[in-house]
Amino acid sequence: MLSVRNLTLQYPNGKRALADFNLEVKPGELVVVLGGNGSGKTTLLRCITRTLAPTGGEVWLNGTELSHLTGDKLRIARMALALVSQHASLVRRRSVLSNVAAGSLGRHYNMWTAIGGLPSDELQAAYGYLDEVGLRDLARQRAGTLSGGQAQRVAIARALAQKPKAILADEPVASLDPEAAEDIMRLLRRLAEEENLAVLCVLHQVELAYSYAHRVVGIRDGRIEFDLPRADVSREAVKRLYISEAA
Ligand SMILES: Nc1ncnc2c1ncn2[C@@H]1O[C@H](COP(=O)(O)OP(=O)(O)OP(=O)(O)O)[C@@H](O)[C@H]1O
Ligand SMILES: [Mg+2]
Repeated sequence: MLSVRNLTLQYPNGKRALADFNLEVKPGELVVVLGGNGSGKTTLLRCITRTLAPTGGEVWLNGTELSHLTGDKLRIARMALALVSQHASLVRRRSVLSNVAAGSLGRHYNMWTAIGGLPSDELQAAYGYLDEVGLRDLARQRAGTLSGGQAQRVAIARALAQKPKAILADEPVASLDPEAAEDIMRLLRRLAEEENLAVLCVLHQVELAYSYAHRVVGIRDGRIEFDLPRADVSREAVKRLYISEAA
């Protein structure tokens, strides 16, 4: 279970990007976050992964509070949180398989830095993660030759190699065509349900939220406007998220 309690984030310039934010994502659940540009969605994900230190509140993952951890304890806790971004950020000249296996880097931190190579069992395991995203056939292809949708699938396979408890996705379909976007959302939902992962996904595509989310969270100006099962989210409530304060 991923749980955010009373989270507050104020940037050094005084901008308060999150205020008293509360959210829970259970294993097996795909929660979609909707909100306008600048509403605090990326800030929320960065606070959860602790690339930003929250100014207040707590982030819990399966009974461990993350926001106070440092050093090795923080590194290990972070392994349980896999981040998928708008751009797949693969190493283009390397094979698909080696990109996926690189997801296990954090689990072999010392060994990898010592020997500078990929453990063979992790390469074997990487085939399994490629199976999960339906791309085993492309294992030996150079990552730089993939289409956007394929690259994003590989990024998700790389996330799985981390053996995470939760996946945090920040606009994972932003640069994909409608069909590929549906494929990725279907995949994220299946991984939530079959691998029992907690999946938190930021989207700007309202229709995809209606199609694939178990729950939808609406955020506006750093605060939660609604947090509801998909079927209870009204079109009006979603529309209000995107109307600017000044209007
Ligand atoms: N490093 C920073 N310093 C100051 N303000 C920041 C910083 N990073 C983000 N902000 C501000 O915090 C607010 C939330 O930004 P954030 O990136 O979380 O929005 P977002 O919901 O992800 O938007 P988008 O949909 O455009 O990606 C915005 O007003 C932004 O300008
Ligand atoms: Mg953002």
